[in-house]
Amino acid sequence: MSAKEPEPGRSPWDPGQYNRFAAEREQPFWDLRSRLEPVTSPRVADLGCGDGRLTAALHRELGAGSTLGIENSASMLAAAAAHAGDALTFASGDVSTWAGSGFDIVFSNAALQWVPDHPQVLERWRASLARAGQLAVQVPANADHPSHAVLRGLAAERLGANAPADPVAGNVLRPEEYALLLDRLGFERQHVRLQVYTHRLASAGDVVEWMKGTSLTRFRQRLGPEEYEGLVEDYRGRLLRALGDDRPYLYAFKRILLWGRLPR
Ligand SMILES: C[S@@+](CC[C@H](N)C(=O)[O-])C[C@H]1O[C@@H](n2cnc3c(N)ncnc32)[C@H](O)[C@@H]1O
Repeated sequence: MSAKEPEPGRSPWDPGQYNRFAAEREQPFWDLRSRLEPVTSPRVADLGCGDGRLTAALHRELGAGSTLGIENSASMLAAAAAHAGDALTFASGDVSTWAGSGFDIVFSNAALQWVPDHPQVLERWRASLARAGQLAVQVPANADHPSHAVLRGLAAERLGANAPADPVAGNVLRPEEYALLLDRLGFERQHVRLQVYTHRLASAGDVVEWMKGTSLTRFRQRLGPEEYEGLVEDYRGRLLRALGDDRPYLYAFKRILLWGRLPR
């Protein structure tokens, strides 16, 4: 199998596939939101905002003075444009280098895992906050589940050195490391927890559909359509051997939620 470099401007994100499990993916977003302390008309940034649907809901829910969504996927940004207006804006940007100033809330759901060097990125996000500013971030921490481990093994076998790295395995820190980091960055109050979300899927095979909306996008970006389909079928076979073909299937998904507030 050959691998190709991602084409510039060709985004692997597919809002339709991602939203197949919208309800399951949404719960951690609202759990994260519930950690926020009340602020009047906050200035909000939503980093890695996806298709903007939840950014718009957050904007309304917080009564935000303004909300800026940052995304680097052209297809997600195109979908987000439909939600813009009423002090809600979206801009193209890379969350790993993004820096703002004077934000009351920097919020990021399920995006930080895609970029390396969290200590440096979180330092930049913290510098974007105003006095008493709040940072709220959710990252998946599921790299040891067969859904991810089987894919890593298959990718290494098929693509060798060209296999895309598993961002969750490579980038996500342990919960206690985020707690130490928040403290070092000067957050006066903090809350960091590992939470297991249980998703009852119709069958174990549906884990493949779930992964098509996230981790498998890295392969779709690099492979031709036939090679991609071949990899997905191989992945399905191996995954069902590892999980058993349970119907329904309980997908236990670990996530880290972290929140901190700067001194008033
Ligand atoms: C799993 S989705 C989450 C979307 C949204 N936050 C939500 O909760 O529905 C991750 C998003 O992060 C975006 N993303 C990944 N890496 C990024 C980067 N370096 N800069 C900006 N956006 C990025 C992806 O394009 C994708 O839309």
